[in-house]
Amino acid sequence: MSHYPHLFSPLTINGMTLKNRIIMPPMGTNMATLNGEVSQEQLEYYELRAKGGTGLITIENICIDFPFASNGTTQLRIDNDQYIPRLFKLTETLHKHGACVSIQLNHAGASAYAYRLEGQTPLSSSTTPSKKHGNIPRPMTHEEIYHAVEKFGDAAERVRRAGFDCVEIHAGHSYLISQFLSPLFNKRTDEFGGSVENRTRILSLIVDKVRACVGPRFPVSLRISADDFLKGGNTLEDSLRILELCQEKVDIINVSAAQNDNLNLQIDQMSLEDGWKRYLSRAVRDKFHKPTVIAGNIRTPQVAEDILASGDADLIAIGRGLIAEPEWVQKVQGGKERLMRKCISCNIGCADHRIARSRPLRCSINPDIIHGDAYKMRRVNRDTNVVVIGAGTAGMEAACTAAEVGCHTWLLEAKNHVGGLASEISRLPEKKRIADFPQFMKNRIASLDNLMLQIGKRADVASVSALRPHLIVNATGSTPLLPPIEGLRENIDVENGKIFSITGMIDNCLLYTSDAADDLH
Ligand SMILES: Cc1cc2nc3c(=O)[nH]c(=O)nc-3n(C[C@H](O)[C@H](O)[C@H](O)COP(=O)(O)O)c2cc1C
Ligand code: SF4
Repeated sequence: MSHYPHLFSPLTINGMTLKNRIIMPPMGTNMATLNGEVSQEQLEYYELRAKGGTGLITIENICIDFPFASNGTTQLRIDNDQYIPRLFKLTETLHKHGACVSIQLNHAGASAYAYRLEGQTPLSSSTTPSKKHGNIPRPMTHEEIYHAVEKFGDAAERVRRAGFDCVEIHAGHSYLISQFLSPLFNKRTDEFGGSVENRTRILSLIVDKVRACVGPRFPVSLRISADDFLKGGNTLEDSLRILELCQEKVDIINVSAAQNDNLNLQIDQMSLEDGWKRYLSRAVRDKFHKPTVIAGNIRTPQVAEDILASGDADLIAIGRGLIAEPEWVQKVQGGKERLMRKCISCNIGCADHRIARSRPLRCSINPDIIHGDAYKMRRVNRDTNVVVIGAGTAGMEAACTAAEVGCHTWLLEAKNHVGGLASEISRLPEKKRIADFPQFMKNRIASLDNLMLQIGKRADVASVSALRPHLIVNATGSTPLLPPIEGLRENIDVENGKIFSITGMIDNCLLYTSDAADDLH
């Protein structure tokens, strides 16, 4: 019997049967084509996660009404039938691997991508930007509100035609619907503002419309920010009241939290415990007795299993964990947990690329999130010796890759331990999650017979030449930049001194009091 009986038990929701309890939540990729179609790269990215055993894949937020509803630089669109063929190709491809497929309908409201609006003002409930220093929107007229409701319905109908198994309404994360739900944004005085009933009105209309368009036997999911975690915003109690008013025709409640101004709680910062938001889904599940999803730094199967076994949620959303490790499910199922590339919640390659830099989604610890291990098929066809100098994370990745394609590989490290700066930094209590990455690399090295690791071995010409390398990789890392201050270099990390390198500072971190940290702010 599996170590994780709950994780691998199927679940049927309104006719959709999921083979396990792991779902990929929606995550914008910036990989769509310029006109909003599914790109080949995007299709392969999702296919890899379906191949990896994920039960339900939720495709990222899709624009229901271009340009006012649009978000991100290259976002998917579904405001026109011409998008159906590529979306169908996507669902068809993922279904081949046994995954169910959902997609998240979204109207960005005040977060609309300004350039596309060509000088027009973005729409919202009121004039409050969706984030500090964001664009100031204008309040929607009644006509515009009912138009948006219609567009959600049209989009849902296309979702069904495109072969999806489920549709999700995005009512969280500072987008249009949450700009109505949350008093942080909604300052209206008509029937769409003020009381909780009025603020929920647009969502109730959308849920009714979507249900009418997809019919009674098609799963509808609703994603909400169950607690804004911001002063003056919705609390869990408020959100439960909102759900009371609109959840009746919904099959799944996908519990998220927070808004744009506290993104660190929405796309959870690394110091937050695995599954720290599970009490939110518990409260929702206890009240409405419907399949409930929870996300938030859930990385290990044991935590996921505990959440399910304790009844805190019915489905586990693993977002960044699946960006970093597309085979999460298969590796857990196959007893290969030691070889899982666990996301370290650094938010650099994914969130920062996608949200702050308008780059396509990437991952700091996974060099190819689109093709995964496909490189292993490209084996070297003659004897090749590779020497990698430096066993930091880059050196370890290079050495493992070389060995995995069949090179005789040596990895030389001057220090007595591997992992470089990543290992050093993970000694800081708030950054301990980073240690998972060098640990994964160590496990990977240990699994490769043709990779020889030599620690405590400083590379020099003689020792490297003796290995007769065809290829040498210099991965010795970098040295920090220092300002040109006379005597600075000689005084770093000296006994009883007060000037530290980053590693010297970490060595001494237990000596710092929290008051000292406050002084630095
Ligand atoms: C790059 C990126 C894009 C995201 N885009 C969306 C989105 O389109 N819709 C949404 O509801 N949540 C979005 N999220 C939030 C995730 O769905 C998820 O709730 C969050 O990352 C926490 O789960 P995790 O710790 O498993 O990653 C995004 C997160 C990331 C990292
Ligand atoms: S970039 Fe960082 S946070 Fe994002 S998936 Fe990769 S490891 Fe996780």
